[in-house]
Amino acid sequence: MKLDGKVAVVTGGASGLGQATCHQLVAQGARVMIFDLNEELARNTVKALGEQNASYALVNVSDETSVDAGIAQAINQYGEIHIVVNCAGIGAPAKVINREGEPLPLDKFKQIIDINLVGTFNVLRLAAARMINNDPFNEDYGRGVIINVASAAAFDGQIGQPAYAASKAGVVGMTLPIARELATHGIRVNTIAPGLFMTPMAASLPENVVAALGNSVEYPKRLGRPEEFASTVVHIAENDYLNGEVIRLDGAIRMQAR
Ligand SMILES: NC(=O)c1ccc[n+]([C@@H]2O[C@H](COP(=O)([O-])OP(=O)(O)OC[C@H]3O[C@@H](n4cnc5c(N)ncnc54)[C@H](O)[C@@H]3O)[C@@H](O)[C@H]2O)c1
Repeated sequence: MKLDGKVAVVTGGASGLGQATCHQLVAQGARVMIFDLNEELARNTVKALGEQNASYALVNVSDETSVDAGIAQAINQYGEIHIVVNCAGIGAPAKVINREGEPLPLDKFKQIIDINLVGTFNVLRLAAARMINNDPFNEDYGRGVIINVASAAAFDGQIGQPAYAASKAGVVGMTLPIARELATHGIRVNTIAPGLFMTPMAASLPENVVAALGNSVEYPKRLGRPEEFASTVVHIAENDYLNGEVIRLDGAIRMQAR
């Protein structure tokens, strides 16, 4: 897929990996619609991208009505959606049993699943229902590409990550069946499973903690840069033969138990 002139919805595009993705997509000539809950960050991101290239909708990815309205706004504004990048997500530590011996409240578990897994599926299903009506843009009758974001925790989740790891393993698990189903419409589906990246959360940690985290990566011995994530998104979008795949982007790190 040539990105020039295409339209991308980027959830969580106001911060971190999603924001870096917006910058690279716009640099390749795409226009982006950010779905995010953080209005201030979304507004600033659109300003930095240029209002002719980007806009935002205040969308909660796990809410049906909210995503429906965001998709309608994107279609109204740009006509079609060719690319969806599902970056919105939360990661909160949540052990099964806390120090006082109390079990994790079920609502806490459900909240993480609801945003990371159900939210990803919600945006994917509503966007795909529009994408199938796109005019094919290449000789393979391509109509679009969907890129989800899992995590290395989908494979080697740490203590305190049962909900997060389960949510991301769910994203990994649905990648192939959805790619198979949407193949008949010319829509590809892939997932990136990042290791440790230098996003605002990590940037707020003390330098020695960041250095220790970086040291746990095989090579290169540092956290990933958001631009490295974003260039993977661009490659997946451009490479029409990449489909149904989960790509670990993690410097070969294998997370320890804690
Ligand atoms: N940073 C890392 O090291 C890392 C590693 C593995 C996976 N990931 C995954 O990558 C994705 C992006 O992470 P990040 O580090 O850029 O995070 P971030 O916190 O910088 O950005 C996430 C964005 O998602 C938005 N968001 C949260 N809940 C939302 C909701 N319900 N609806 C709409 N928007 C919502 C937030 O407002 C924020 O702007 C997440 O899914 C995360 O789990 C990150």
